[in-house]
Amino acid sequence: MTAQIDHALEEIRRFRPSPEFAAQAVADESLYRRAAEDRLGFWAEQARELIQWETPFTEVLDWTNPPFARWFGDGRLNVAANCLDRHVDAGYGDRVAIHWEGEPGDSRSITYAQLTDEVKRAANVLAGLGIGQGDRVAIYLPMIPEAVVAMLAVARLGAIHSVVFGGFSADSLASRIDDAEAKLVITADGGYRKGKVFPLKPVVDDALDRATGGSVQNVLVVQRGGNEVGWTEGRDQWWHDTVATASAEHTAEAFDAENPLFILYTSGTTGKPKGILHTSGGYLTQAAFTHKNVFDLHPETDVYWCTADVGWITGHSYVVYGPLANGATQVLYEGTPDSPHPGRWWEIVEKYRVSILYTAPTAIRSFMKLGRQIPHEFNLRSLRVLGSVGEPINPEAWIWYRHVIGGGSIPVVDTWWQTETGAIMISALPGVTDLKPGSAQVPVPGISVDILDDDGKPVGGEDGGLLVITEPWPSMLRGIWGDPERFKETYWEKFGDKYFAGDGARRDEDGDIWLLGRVDDVMNVSGHRLSTAEIESSLVAHPWTAEAAVVGAADETTGQAVVAFVILKASQADRVTDVAEASEELRRHVATQIGAIARPRQVFIVNELPKTRSGKIMRRLLRDLAEGRQVGDTTTLADTSVMTAITEQVR
Ligand code: WT7
Repeated sequence: MTAQIDHALEEIRRFRPSPEFAAQAVADESLYRRAAEDRLGFWAEQARELIQWETPFTEVLDWTNPPFARWFGDGRLNVAANCLDRHVDAGYGDRVAIHWEGEPGDSRSITYAQLTDEVKRAANVLAGLGIGQGDRVAIYLPMIPEAVVAMLAVARLGAIHSVVFGGFSADSLASRIDDAEAKLVITADGGYRKGKVFPLKPVVDDALDRATGGSVQNVLVVQRGGNEVGWTEGRDQWWHDTVATASAEHTAEAFDAENPLFILYTSGTTGKPKGILHTSGGYLTQAAFTHKNVFDLHPETDVYWCTADVGWITGHSYVVYGPLANGATQVLYEGTPDSPHPGRWWEIVEKYRVSILYTAPTAIRSFMKLGRQIPHEFNLRSLRVLGSVGEPINPEAWIWYRHVIGGGSIPVVDTWWQTETGAIMISALPGVTDLKPGSAQVPVPGISVDILDDDGKPVGGEDGGLLVITEPWPSMLRGIWGDPERFKETYWEKFGDKYFAGDGARRDEDGDIWLLGRVDDVMNVSGHRLSTAEIESSLVAHPWTAEAAVVGAADETTGQAVVAFVILKASQADRVTDVAEASEELRRHVATQIGAIARPRQVFIVNELPKTRSGKIMRRLLRDLAEGRQVGDTTTLADTSVMTAITEQVR
């Protein structure tokens, strides 16, 4: 955090929008003015302009039962029809919705008319499997067009999807299926990653053996990897046997604006992931509004590419709902950035003439490491807007992104938001805002934030404090699935009616906001949220482990990295003779239990952990150690010699 503050204080560069860009920009100052004079009126106008309502709303916000908001409550719409049919009806059926690029090099371009047909077919199949309004469907797919089709087919029926990232383990998938009581799982045999097929259907089979709820009645399987899969007759069905032959006639029914659209699980401060619940009308409004204005979308000419997987919120709002609601043409890529060669992303930008690119700082930093000669082999001149999300982007990476990828003169927008906020909350608007590398800058029009101290008082001057959102917003989470108490406790208890985001922030003299990282026990690894408690409980579940402490340590590429300190059980001490092997085994264990993204960078086997007299582990000291710093103040430790002993063991 101090390193980031230092960066923030040193950073003085500013970039004015070019007059040419400003002249053609979608957004202008009037959005801020209008939102400031009548915030609810502003959102109502956006909702009417950007969304097609089957029944127009008359009520904008109902906040009589905080923190449970209702937006556009008496309006009715079909989210999928907003993303599909209305564009076809408006005459844009031949516009490409998705240029899909498979990792092995196969590709498909799908128009809005074709995508609409495919979603109608899938909706008919799902309805035939008994899926209707309010039912939960788990989606566990690679980045293939069927992932988008599956999400929209669920939405079309007024059902609720729960997309689980394909990198999560059978255990993680099972607990998400159980928590949501999913009736159907949509998966693939496998997908491509780093030149190999990774299995998905076998993981689903394993998850369904572990799931205790018994809620799943069917599994729908897309053929992609061609890998061998087991089959449960009566339960499992191939997508190509059912969807391909289904009728493409399907009339979209309208649902209430507050009809649940999806659940997406994210890590909190406890071991159990939270099922963040989003609903329809408000979510779609803010996703579409921000996608249009933050990326300066001109749907007739732009080719947009967001590199996020649909398993994360960025994929929900800025691969599926925002871009499709806006009728954009976009690229969808299945694989990793370096497969089969390190220039793959730039090759894709050149091939499809991508004009808007939205990605994460961790990716930018790994390209920086590889050097500018790799992107320079490709023609990137089609790019005109660059976006960043997931963690603070350090000014060096921002400048590199603008210069090496963007050619030196195009806007870079750093967008702050969360799974819970549903859509972008803080960002510059290209063509309007003077850009400042390293700062997420200002709330988007219609959003109100503040920075408070621990007692809820606004911080003065440029001091750091806690970021809060002071007014309800259209795409806000409506709750945690099945746990209203946890929803209130996590976000609303600290500051009453203000939403507590869990991030530290400061405002500079121009009023620009700098994000300073999480203030809770949540880590940010490659822009993904991981909970220290969840990884600790996974480590403790291993038969060798007596105790474990996990910290997020600064990492040059991934932002933070998971570093674990583990005490082995005395009874195992004889068996575990090779410390390196033991720590490798524990790393593997976490990857199998939670997923590869949670695999610790390092596991240190130690004899003791630093604890206060009341038995609380002092993670701050372990973080000092993991980051190679002088260990800080140890006076509150029950035994002050412990840190010396641990330091010796680790070094
Ligand atoms: C957390 C939310 C929103 C999609 C990706 C992550 C951090 C996100 C930024 C940014 C500084 C950022 C915050 C936030 N974060 N974007 N531009 N600058 N920090 O979604 O998994 O829900 O994580 O990511 O700490 O709370 P998520």
